[in-house]
Amino acid sequence: MIPRNHDHVCAIIWRDNALELLDQRLLPGEIRYQRLTTAVEVATAIRCMVVRGAPAIGITAAYGVVLAARNSYAKTQEHWQISMQEDLDQLAASRPTAVNLFWALRRMKRVIANTSGNPLERLLIEARAIHEEDIAANQCMGLLGAELLGERGAVLTHCNAGSLATGGYGTALGVIRAGYAAGLIERVYADETRPWLQGARLTAWELVQDRIPVTLLADGAAASLMRQGMIRWVIVGADRIAANGDAANKIGTYGLAVTARYHGVKLMVVAPASTVDLAVPNGTGIPIEQRAADELLNFNGYPVAPTGADGWNPSFDVTPAELIDAFVTERGVILKPDAAKIADMMGIENPAC
Ligand code: MRU
Repeated sequence: MIPRNHDHVCAIIWRDNALELLDQRLLPGEIRYQRLTTAVEVATAIRCMVVRGAPAIGITAAYGVVLAARNSYAKTQEHWQISMQEDLDQLAASRPTAVNLFWALRRMKRVIANTSGNPLERLLIEARAIHEEDIAANQCMGLLGAELLGERGAVLTHCNAGSLATGGYGTALGVIRAGYAAGLIERVYADETRPWLQGARLTAWELVQDRIPVTLLADGAAASLMRQGMIRWVIVGADRIAANGDAANKIGTYGLAVTARYHGVKLMVVAPASTVDLAVPNGTGIPIEQRAADELLNFNGYPVAPTGADGWNPSFDVTPAELIDAFVTERGVILKPDAAKIADMMGIENPAC
């Protein structure tokens, strides 16, 4: 069992032959798990943000494949691979930007292609491996990222790249957990992250659970915070990193990166190697999910804009590599990422710790 320093949150659980997901839409008010037994339910849970965050989406989809195979094999022991194809398509169509989804599906498909007979056990072993490897990668990135922090100070994060967004421990919040444990972080400033409020509802909740001091701020307040010299690092996760180091993350990250560079604050992007997409040469090739305008125009069912106003709601933006000071993966740290450094890093097979 991997030790979980400063981490008490578990969002994805495989229990009694079903997938249990902490319903993140209800946090911080209510802790309720959904119990899912079909791949279609899993795809819906991803699309509707019951579970979210790039690595968590990949892990969830892997367990979704286990459910798809089990149900398919119960129907036809001869043609289960063919009969589960529609479920695989639904999982792949659930959200477009987080490349970990497609990476996890590829891993599961390799097992499917090499399995005859009942696939359940082998697929479950692979899904659990994806889950455990992610936690181990996060622990490793936590240590590597914390080593970059330097003098004790405060940091800023955006969205939620914590236990809830991963198999556990978190990417950006993994570095923050490790940095706090080492006495290098005195406080975390968390952008509220409109429109889903992942910063307010999820990041602040996780940090409060783990007794790490957190101060919430409106997204628009980050520039003033930087101008007052209040933070040393912006630390974020990523949903997809192109071959040249351009990084897609929650909408607003790009603005933070520009603001950070202007104020001399450093930007650290923390993401496992499964987030790197070498097939996409640069950020312009990353598909950006457009979500319903309704998410902006209403909040919890209440209108916050006049009838007749339109809304523009891209879920992610792309930060150019030139604005990233450090890219931390479980395979090592890249300072000032570029295509050559990323290609080298992706050639390394083993985790750095
Ligand atoms: O829309 P979400 O909540 O899935 O967006 C999540 C993010 O943008 C995270 O920062 C990213 O997935 C990294 S999670 C370790």
